[in-house]
Amino acid sequence: MIGEIPRTFDGFVETSNRGRYHRSMVTEATVRTALANVIDPELHTDIVDLGMVGEISISDTIATIGLALTIASCPMRGQIESDIIRRVTAVPGIEVVHIVTSVMSQEQRSTLMGRARLRARETATPTAVNPATRVIAVSSGKGGVGKSSLSANIALAIADQGHSVGLMDADIWGFSAPRILGAGEDRLEANEDRKIVPTVAHGIHLVSTGLLLDDEDTALMWRGLMLTKAVEQFLKDVAWPNDLGYLVIDMPPGTGDVQMALARLLPQAEIVVVTTPQVAAQKVAARVADMAKRSHMPIVGVVENMAGFTTESGEHYDIFGSGGGETLADDLGVPLLGSVPIDPLVASGGDRGHPIIIEHPGSAAAVAITAVAERITEVLPPLALDNCVGRLGALLDEIPVVSN
Ligand SMILES: Nc1ncnc2c1ncn2[C@@H]1O[C@H](COP(=O)(O)OP(=O)(O)O)[C@@H](O)[C@H]1O
Ligand SMILES: [Mg+2]
Repeated sequence: MIGEIPRTFDGFVETSNRGRYHRSMVTEATVRTALANVIDPELHTDIVDLGMVGEISISDTIATIGLALTIASCPMRGQIESDIIRRVTAVPGIEVVHIVTSVMSQEQRSTLMGRARLRARETATPTAVNPATRVIAVSSGKGGVGKSSLSANIALAIADQGHSVGLMDADIWGFSAPRILGAGEDRLEANEDRKIVPTVAHGIHLVSTGLLLDDEDTALMWRGLMLTKAVEQFLKDVAWPNDLGYLVIDMPPGTGDVQMALARLLPQAEIVVVTTPQVAAQKVAARVADMAKRSHMPIVGVVENMAGFTTESGEHYDIFGSGGGETLADDLGVPLLGSVPIDPLVASGGDRGHPIIIEHPGSAAAVAITAVAERITEVLPPLALDNCVGRLGALLDEIPVVSN
């Protein structure tokens, strides 16, 4: 179901290569499509399908959206509204979002519950990624900036907060997640439904081509496979746990194909851009941002990696320059989620399967990564958990069961 949401790019023209778009005509349908990626945290169904989206009007770069809430006082409201804002401002041509809220009538609520029940049945498959799983695609324009190191350590830091976390290594040829998580010797197996079961490394549910290959020949066979096919298989044929709160995706460097496939298959995916403090790296990262705009994937924020080195005696060296992360975040209008310093423990820990977050949680780099993970879960709080106690129960008590 989630893979079928159309992503239309009609109506926009790209007028420069700097990631800026000028609106020729943003249609209501485009905004509605973007809204179809906002999932109600409790009902686990998108707000368009649930009938929560009312009138949409667009004037210049401003979108005004009618939102019908089930209960006005529900604390989930803030989350739904901030998800709407991030999704709709990711539509090229829209800069400002106004939300006009109203409260549903009894009849509307009863229809909503009918839809929610129907969808709950349809999506009750243990294989696909649950639509309520937050998906974070860790991207950058080029290799070697620390995507894989950060993906693994951010996954661990989010798991430390008590969430169930998956890591999908979408770098099909250049896989490195198994080594970093010390699972290099593990091999993936299929369950009775012939779905691939993720291996569990340091508590993280991990899938990577590195866990499929046994020899160079198999590696060559995989090389013949289309990149996007492999990613598709990782999303469709893997028995991802149904209660996965977060799925971190370690993206391959620079390819647009995988990102577009991801946008198509996992509409809830959002991007974290990794850059080094260098201006050159930042330019490459800006291309990722451009891709994000085109695929309608919101950018959660920027992480600056390899931001300076401090010696034991306290001397600080900006080896790869400074300020690139801040500048990129400003350019993109997204938060700088944090700056992670150069620390040899990141590299040696990754080589030995002893991630720095676990082995040296007090090190400056681990502290910075933990802070980044906190920022991420602040911006993207878990959807799979029931934060709004009793809302669903109250609704069920209060309305008659509708049949479909
Ligand atoms: N903050 C850091 N401090 C020291 N070394 C790092 C840091 N981040 C990444 N590295 C090292 O840099 C190299 C490239 O990192 P990697 O995570 O593989 O990047 P990417 O996935 O973007 O290609 C690896 O050897 C890794 O251990
Ligand atoms: Mg990598």
